[in-house]
Amino acid sequence: MDQKRLSQIVDRYADQEGALIQLLLDIQKEFNWVPKEAVQQISKSLDIPLSQIYRVASFYKSVSLRPRGKHIVNVCLGTACQVREGPRVMDRIKGVLGIDAGETTQDMKFTLERVNCLGCCALGPVVVVDGEYHGKVLPAKAEEIIKSYD
Ligand code: FES
Repeated sequence: MDQKRLSQIVDRYADQEGALIQLLLDIQKEFNWVPKEAVQQISKSLDIPLSQIYRVASFYKSVSLRPRGKHIVNVCLGTACQVREGPRVMDRIKGVLGIDAGETTQDMKFTLERVNCLGCCALGPVVVVDGEYHGKVLPAKAEEIIKSYD
């Protein structure tokens, strides 16, 4: 973790009360997650109890307290995608990445997540990588998609 970059971000909010959420979001954006060291530095610099920072960070879905990869892969396993080979798509992606849903590859390139309906069921099975939607994805296509990201 780039300590200097972390300090620059935290220092921006040094005198701002009520800026905790924005600060957490900025750190999330910079590092793709909010490491323990960042929480400790926020606590010290802004004089906010650790418990309060963790409570706020846990509440917001867009803030992750666990490492996340450069690419976020969401595989839909909602009902419509389930009946159209969604589980096989998920299995193929797990095999390609060598991780389970909810995990991040060791090289920090990919985080794999399971989602329940992305609101475009007619396109199922659906895979979303970094916000880019891929519809009617069968296992071979899923592998191709994952390998197209580096
Ligand atoms: S179930 Fe997959 S998009 Fe709705």
